[in-house]
Amino acid sequence: MTANARSWWQDAVIYQIYPRSFADSDDDGIGDLGGVRSRLGYLKALGIDAVWLCPVMRSPMIDHGYDVSDPRDIDPLFGDLAGMDAVLEEAHDHGLRVLMDLVPNHTSNQHPWFEEALRSGPGSPARARYLFRPGKGEGGAEPPNNWASIFGGPAWTRITEPDGSLGEWYLHLFAPEQPDLDWTNPEVFTDLAETMRFWLDRGVDGFRIDVAHGMAKPEGLPDGDPTTMTPLYNGDGDARFDHDDVHDLHRRLRDVIDEYEDRVLIGEIWVRDPRRFARYVSEGELHLGFNFLLLETNYRPTEFRTAIDKSLTAVQGTPAPPTWTLSNHDVAREVTRYSPGDPERGTLRAAAALLLELALPGVVFLYNGAELGLPNVDDLPDDVLQDPVWERSGHTDRGRDGARIPLPWWGTEPPYGFSGSPDTWLPMPADWTGLSVQAQSADPGSFLTRCRHAIRMRHELLRDAGTDVEWLDGSGPVLRFQRGKVQCVMNMGTEPVAVPEGRIMAASGPLEDGSLPPDTTVWVV
Ligand code: GLC
Repeated sequence: MTANARSWWQDAVIYQIYPRSFADSDDDGIGDLGGVRSRLGYLKALGIDAVWLCPVMRSPMIDHGYDVSDPRDIDPLFGDLAGMDAVLEEAHDHGLRVLMDLVPNHTSNQHPWFEEALRSGPGSPARARYLFRPGKGEGGAEPPNNWASIFGGPAWTRITEPDGSLGEWYLHLFAPEQPDLDWTNPEVFTDLAETMRFWLDRGVDGFRIDVAHGMAKPEGLPDGDPTTMTPLYNGDGDARFDHDDVHDLHRRLRDVIDEYEDRVLIGEIWVRDPRRFARYVSEGELHLGFNFLLLETNYRPTEFRTAIDKSLTAVQGTPAPPTWTLSNHDVAREVTRYSPGDPERGTLRAAAALLLELALPGVVFLYNGAELGLPNVDDLPDDVLQDPVWERSGHTDRGRDGARIPLPWWGTEPPYGFSGSPDTWLPMPADWTGLSVQAQSADPGSFLTRCRHAIRMRHELLRDAGTDVEWLDGSGPVLRFQRGKVQCVMNMGTEPVAVPEGRIMAASGPLEDGSLPPDTTVWVV
């Protein structure tokens, strides 16, 4: 075992908080750090080890915090530095670690650097922090290459120079308000290192690195294959991402975090090829990489099994444990993905997948609301949609708002204890009473109660179970594996199957006369 293998995060359950949607303490309809503080007891009782806070730094909020204008301050919408310190201190008192989101690929267009770049002319040092290029074609009227933005439309925007003439173009893989930094510029690294130390000194336990696979761009910014550039997706072989030079950057980030003890770096890595994925978590690079294979997998037994096997193989020979995630703030919630139009079945399936996931070795990420079995909300009226993807895609992609609805805490009508104001930043459905934390806490068979129990069992039964997953069945609709003393069985078929002999330690749904109904998972010891 390597030093990494013994760290606190080795088999952690990390709970992702989307701060806008978690809990609102000042009744403006938007969640904040005071809300996080007020719910630390809930998180402790859930049994998680750490929280990952999506960005809370100063931001004009075009992409809800992923457009950072001052990375070393808290946005007033969420609170202030003292409020962040309080979250850290109280979370630590509860035995919970706190990870922040770092956004190194781009800044906000309201970051002082970008404002300075606009004021300064072409070729100036201020422009050299970003990716400004002259346009192609007559008068430079065409973008420098054919890259599309992940949010739709071109990845380039042309500026007006200080003298009023039409000028250079700048690259933005996301919204125009998120200009990409040039990571070949040493100043860019120095500034990020300062940001990291700023938060690490305050007690932050690590970072999730946004777009970790996109920070380095290929030299000369060559055209990409246009068929690979659809909104909200990037596949392997995409010219915009996973460039080899990124690894050197990550090694340098690792050196910074290694100045501190026991902190962790986790990269957002949309890379499917196991060998290319492995490079991100090789010796001296990131401690952990988000592995999205399971998240991108349809609810089918062979696909689940393949995703698990590939994920395990990818990290073999690296110091990193595998990681698992079924959803996050960028994708539709699993209840809806697993059975569109049939929330009841989708809920059973999501619970079954969660219990399977919790039996796997490594780190499990749990997106806020997933512990309640929240569905995606797909019927938001057009005029409340806020994700820039909706506008940027020319209203062809409704974006990610449906996965970002505020959490229901108690009561029988919106805003269900999320806020004192009924005017929440995204409207909450009228039929979420039964999904609230309060309603589910009172029900021994609820999604939340089962989730809490499963997390506790994971810690009790699987802490020292090693990293091996031993499949007990060949193919077929039942996934069955042994890990340590736990046998995990997930019935993805349409017929009940027998529950193996032994003591039932956890179940994702009700069992019927010793049999495991469809869309149900059980742990037996
Ligand atoms: C990441 C974030 C996503 C954000 C994007 C741009 O993919 O998860 O929410 O929009 O980066 O920062």
